[in-house]
Amino acid sequence: MTVTNTTDTKKDSGVYPPSPQFAATANTDAAIYEKAWSDRLAFWAEQADRLQWDKPYGQVLDWDTEEFVANWFVDGKLNVAVNCVDRHVAAGNGDRVAIHWEGEPGDSRSITYAQLLADVSRAANYFTELGLSAGDRVAIYMPMVPEAIVTMLACARLGLMHSVVFAGFSSAALRARIDDASAKLVVTTDGQYRRGQAAPLKGAVDEALGGETPNETVDHVLVVRRCGIDVDWTDGRDLWWDETVVAASPEHAPAAFDSEQPLFVLYTSGTTGKPKGIVHTSGGYLTQTAYTHHYVFDHKPGKDVYWCTADIGWVTGHSYIVYGPLANGATQVVYEGTPNSPNEHRHFEIIEKYGVSIYYTAPTLVRTFMKWGRAIPDAHDLSSIRLLGSVGEPINPEAWRWFREVLGRGEVPIVDTWWQTETGAIMIAPLPGVTAAKPGAAMTPLPGISANIVDDEANPVPRGGAEASGYLVLDQPWPSMLRGIWGDMERYRETYWSRYADRGWYFAGDGARYDADGDLWVLGRVDDVMNVSGHRISTAEVESALVGHTAVAEAAVVGAADETTGQGIVAFVILKSGASGGDDVVAELKAEVAREISPIAKPREVKIVPELPKTRSGKIMRRLLRDIAEGRELGDTSTLVDPKVFDAIKG
Ligand code: WT7
Repeated sequence: MTVTNTTDTKKDSGVYPPSPQFAATANTDAAIYEKAWSDRLAFWAEQADRLQWDKPYGQVLDWDTEEFVANWFVDGKLNVAVNCVDRHVAAGNGDRVAIHWEGEPGDSRSITYAQLLADVSRAANYFTELGLSAGDRVAIYMPMVPEAIVTMLACARLGLMHSVVFAGFSSAALRARIDDASAKLVVTTDGQYRRGQAAPLKGAVDEALGGETPNETVDHVLVVRRCGIDVDWTDGRDLWWDETVVAASPEHAPAAFDSEQPLFVLYTSGTTGKPKGIVHTSGGYLTQTAYTHHYVFDHKPGKDVYWCTADIGWVTGHSYIVYGPLANGATQVVYEGTPNSPNEHRHFEIIEKYGVSIYYTAPTLVRTFMKWGRAIPDAHDLSSIRLLGSVGEPINPEAWRWFREVLGRGEVPIVDTWWQTETGAIMIAPLPGVTAAKPGAAMTPLPGISANIVDDEANPVPRGGAEASGYLVLDQPWPSMLRGIWGDMERYRETYWSRYADRGWYFAGDGARYDADGDLWVLGRVDDVMNVSGHRISTAEVESALVGHTAVAEAAVVGAADETTGQGIVAFVILKSGASGGDDVVAELKAEVAREISPIAKPREVKIVPELPKTRSGKIMRRLLRDIAEGRELGDTSTLVDPKVFDAIKG
């Protein structure tokens, strides 16, 4: 097994039991594990009962072990948006702030649940006027503005599926996603603020929809005015949000949808060049996002101020900015910009300003804070923080300890949360107030979740005793599991279920190990998927962008360990004969990848090489390229056609 992440998890990092004070008021205690195990489905039913159902469900789970598609909370009906908004207003909490929104240039808005209800209703009314109906797809290509969240909830309210495309993605990436989902509406903004500058965004939508073969599925582009910059306009197709949605009625009667009504599709990288549209549905997804947000973050509605620093372009934003927190009536901070805009104090100022008590972020940002130095956080009153969370990649023990020491006064719990776009919600994490956490370990599957570590032959890796690693599998269905890959159920079965098909286990694509106490450590991807700053990028996608350049004959890409970003992308490129190497072409190739995919996929390094190491069957040996990229002694080269290739590459 090859594990691509080199986080040092072997070191003894100590154990951090919860403080008695935290445990005394925690949302749960150790008994929850036994309760869940004694009757898993009854436990999930109890969690589903946190939601408001318009029609009660019958069976808790109907699991199709041939097609690997689950039906959770069978025949139940609910409206996801009602659960996230209306019911809090109905319960008398309409004046509670749902979102403290902080704009990049320093403007801010606080939106109550009552205001959110009016905004979502207006959007739902207008989307209906546009002729959209349940099942239609809506692409959302927006920065972190409140209207993005309003649009997602309006889709949910109408049974439309949203497909959020990260606003840092290129027009080509946007086009591919719009086409794959046959979206009818695109919602965007005129521009977005990036480090104090207004950068155009709507132009990328125009570009995506135009081109040699113009898109034919999109009827309208709805544009939120964010920066007040000029945009090109296509009459009849383009519409201003503030002339349409804002003028619609703030009252909307919601319909109830089946528990399995598709809620959204979200594209994520796989091992091939084509991103996968991961499909999530309603009842089970909302049950598990709400459940995990409540217990893993020990969330107390009306008291906590919660902040998840993700972008809604990723699943973390879907599950832990939009659906989980809002289902639980949370008050949260949503920030539009980057952590160093206008300077490195920004996050800490925001924590201080709103009294943030729960702060959920990615290891790469913690390591960036470490680089900036503790004098920056130390200049702020961070005493409101009572829980810290981490997601996106394994957190190295050093960053874990710094996080707790500097942001958490050396006393608050840290929850390291393992999950994926596909799992929809957190699967493996410590429970604050219960678990004695270890820096770098995701620790324990949550109550109701069953995970295992197995080898190629499906033998379980022993728990405790000898330390051994293997593949992480989920051996029981869970409510927020993906229901498929949009338009490609064959790829769905192949990617996730074929490896252990006869057992019915979900293959996560991660390596993991148990330590001597039987606690679980996630080691990183075992496939050709890289993890750069918590973003999932496939080697094949970057390779195909590189090969698209006229000067390139062949390219191979690896993720090499990187101190800040976890992994950095290193590309090995063979140029076509006649093409000239040198700095120019390297810069051009980096720019090409940024243009084709996104700046987040831009290689850290491009090495122009005369040859690539291949096995006799013609497969590129990425393991060896990774050795070179990380400056290591070369591993086993015996299966290579021509071991001398390396002298040429290294030279
Ligand atoms: C992959 C999923 C889950 C939302 C953000 C990423 C890695 C994620 C952890 C963690 C170790 C982690 C895994 C996983 N990962 N969280 N706490 N410890 N690894 O979602 O883009 O679908 O990526 O991120 O490798 O498979 P994603």
